[in-house]
Amino acid sequence: MRTQVAIIGAGPSGLMLGRLLEQAGVDAVIIERKSPDYVLGRIRAGVLEQGAMDLLDAAGVGERMHAEGLIHRGVDLAFDGDMLNINFEKLIGKHVMVYGQTEVTRDLMDARRQTGALTIYDADDVAIHDFDGTAPRVTYRKDGVTHTLDCDVIAGCDGFHGVCRASVPENSVTSFERVYPFGWLGVLVDQPPVAEELIYAHHERGFALCSMRSNTRSRYYVQVPSDEKVENWSDDRFWDELRARLNPATAAVLKTGASIEKSVAPLRSFVAEPLRFGSLFLAGDAAHIVPPTGAKGLNLAMSDVKVLAEAFIERFVEGSMAGTDGYSAKVLQRIWKAERFSWWMTSLLHTFPETGNFGRRIQRAEFDYLAGSLAAQQSLAENYVGLP
Ligand code: APR
Ligand code: PHB
Repeated sequence: MRTQVAIIGAGPSGLMLGRLLEQAGVDAVIIERKSPDYVLGRIRAGVLEQGAMDLLDAAGVGERMHAEGLIHRGVDLAFDGDMLNINFEKLIGKHVMVYGQTEVTRDLMDARRQTGALTIYDADDVAIHDFDGTAPRVTYRKDGVTHTLDCDVIAGCDGFHGVCRASVPENSVTSFERVYPFGWLGVLVDQPPVAEELIYAHHERGFALCSMRSNTRSRYYVQVPSDEKVENWSDDRFWDELRARLNPATAAVLKTGASIEKSVAPLRSFVAEPLRFGSLFLAGDAAHIVPPTGAKGLNLAMSDVKVLAEAFIERFVEGSMAGTDGYSAKVLQRIWKAERFSWWMTSLLHTFPETGNFGRRIQRAEFDYLAGSLAAQQSLAENYVGLP
């Protein structure tokens, strides 16, 4: 089998890249190691920046997002019970869209199924070969048979634990990483959200977030130690802890219920450099991880693959290498700004075991500065809705 672009991974990065290439007439095959149902079962963040919304529209898959997504004009920050509304619309004239990553993935999958473009699911032992030259190959096993896909380039869209970055010789890639000493315990529940806007709350017991998927489905998180076991958390224990971290007025109107999903996610900041190795290009979580504070993960993935699709189109339609040559440096600029913002929001809102009372006072001063400075609020707003 032969294609122009072999895409490894059918998460949002791989599926969006496949869609953009298909629209431009560039041939691509996606190889995914899990099943479609498994991919759709992963619950992740759900805030889209304007750039991500525009990309879904340009890809012709924005219809359901506009019908079912919720426009959010701001967010609330809470610090030990004091509330601060950051109104994006007033501060910078922009907004974000609450629409789950699972739904984005579903819309992209449906579109791909309709056009009949090839996605190979349940592929075992996916391996990439000869990407330091101009004739790379991908091999995989399916139903016990080994297959080879010859291609011109490989797009590594296979997430943080994928095979692509791991296949690059160690001395060719530099990793920049910070692992936080805590994770987020998340619960999904079929109850209306506690408030109209998202609430990011700092409390001495730890961070909490009130988010949502729709007007009838809510998503809540509490900061927990990174080795925390989800089995230790009954629904009742979760709701008690969440209420304890919210201000009393919010806690009083929280609607609880049986969780429909509950999981612990570690918090990590990570960037690989560079993002191109000969004929191999990394995008999305394969290239970088942000802590979820600020909801930048999916948005960064979308901006990576927009640039990568343009680069491949330049190469295969126009015959110019400029886009692929410039890919790594171009996307890394935006990646590092989103890394900075996610790290900053994480640092402001979580409790850090090692920083002591000095660190707590600095966090309080940062919150008070935000509350008193329109410039600081504008800075938060322009980062949250997404830098160009
Ligand atoms: N071979 C084939 N597919 C693989 C392999 C492999 N060896 N390893 C992983 N995959 C698949 C995974 O099963 C997954 O479906 O690659 C896909 C990667 O998808 P994601 O992890 O969702 O990464 P990405 O598409 O870059 O999306 C980034 O995900 O983690 C969130 O916050 C992040 O929202 C952001 C988004
Ligand atoms: C979510 O709804 O899952 C969510 C929202 C905002 C974040 C992180 C996660 O910053």
